[in-house]
Amino acid sequence: MEKISRTVIVEALKRRDFGAEVNIKGWVRTRRGNKNVNFIALNDGSTIHNIQIVVDLANFDEEMLKRITTGSCISVVGLLVESKGQGQAVEVQAQSIVVYGSADPESYPLQKKGHTLEFLRDIAHLRPRTNTFGAVFRMRHQMAMAIHTFFHERGFCYFHTPIITGSDCEGAGQMFQVTTMDLKNLKQTECGCIDYSEDFFGKSTNLTVSGQLEGELGAMALGAIYTFGPTFRAENSNTPRHLAEFWMVEPEVAFNEIEENMELAQDFIQYCIRWALEHCQDDLEFLAKMYDAELIERLKFVVENDFKRLTYTEGVEILKAAMANGKKFEYNVDWGTDLQSEHERYLVEDHFKRPVILTDYPKEIKSFYMKQNDDGKTVRAMDVLFPKIGEIIGGSQREEDLEKLQRRADEMGVPTKDIWWYLDTRRFGTAPHSGFGLGFERLMLFVTGMQNIRDVIPFPRTPRNAEF
Ligand code: 4AD
Ligand code: MG
Repeated sequence: MEKISRTVIVEALKRRDFGAEVNIKGWVRTRRGNKNVNFIALNDGSTIHNIQIVVDLANFDEEMLKRITTGSCISVVGLLVESKGQGQAVEVQAQSIVVYGSADPESYPLQKKGHTLEFLRDIAHLRPRTNTFGAVFRMRHQMAMAIHTFFHERGFCYFHTPIITGSDCEGAGQMFQVTTMDLKNLKQTECGCIDYSEDFFGKSTNLTVSGQLEGELGAMALGAIYTFGPTFRAENSNTPRHLAEFWMVEPEVAFNEIEENMELAQDFIQYCIRWALEHCQDDLEFLAKMYDAELIERLKFVVENDFKRLTYTEGVEILKAAMANGKKFEYNVDWGTDLQSEHERYLVEDHFKRPVILTDYPKEIKSFYMKQNDDGKTVRAMDVLFPKIGEIIGGSQREEDLEKLQRRADEMGVPTKDIWWYLDTRRFGTAPHSGFGLGFERLMLFVTGMQNIRDVIPFPRTPRNAEF
């Protein structure tokens, strides 16, 4: 028999050449029917939609049919026919079936009934086979494509920054150590410190919290770069918005000042969300129906409206006025305190009812590399705040003056001997420049309408959880 090539289900469902012979392969979602004919709903991950396989039981071996249960994997050759049933335009009339792998109904955990997201987290190795996670992970791919396309179209270079690093970009000390030393048998120096000269790199190294410092080196040569890679933070925050391993997108642009940085951030997010609306319609409709009825409206609103720009100082005044009017927050707000997610969301969801970009934060609560304003109190930081999420982007114009940068690093206890190479950009041909970091999973939360960041990355890493 002539071997026919496989058709993916997303393509098969579009075809109308009834009578054509097709080969469909996938995993069985459900099987139902009567003693003469069975209907198998088959999914191969190419779309949220299943294709219906019609099986005339008389034509098939009984033992083989028994192995076709929910979760099993089969290959079907048959005729593409117009469907008489509701809910689909085409189906496949099976002529031959091969069972690649059965799935014991006693032990296969994804039976027909709906499962909670919490339960599915415990079987993260199988959850991509559910409608929800199929939709989320297809969208994750689409968002990655949107990001690369956006920057590529604008002439940015995709610049690969290291994952193992000897410096702490954010200076927050929340890093995972990287070592090949035998932790049970550590040699110490005279002062009781650990002797890293014996370690693989001959110095203390960590997983990076951000590619920014090396990204700036790229921008100060190539003009405009972006990074897109995994970053790691050992912060013990068990919230629905924090991961210990997450992906960050960090553009950095020579000659951009804070205003252009804000323009870029808004254009970038709107581009990604428009991409989701244009490329992920089926998955978005499913997620809206199951989890978040206002999802698509919310996405359209963000694409169509400018983000509100104001300073941190103005934001704090609004929050204090709200408190004076009886608004209760768990945490107090005063000039100089870091804003909590409840404050950010009040500004976005209640006060302005649109995304907000806050700028010019107190220097004490921001990193050493941000450009210092003339007031001596604030730095040219910018955080983009989103409905339901809070902070989705953090960025700034960078301090390009070597002396000011060095002084601020010393004040904040940032060991500049580790970042001599970073300071060199200010020594040799320094220039104004700006950039920001977008938390990829925070964007995923927004575009999918999911509530917990553990449900928008295939294998989440959080405190006390590194399974799979
Ligand atoms: O605000 P952050 O800490 O900024 C930086 O790391 C800068 N170096 C970026 C830059 O200017 N190039 O982090 C940037 C973004 C946050 O706005 C948030 O969206 C995300 O990264 N983020 C996290 N996402 C998930 N889990 C965590 N633990 C996160 N920490 C930050
Ligand atoms: Mg931040």
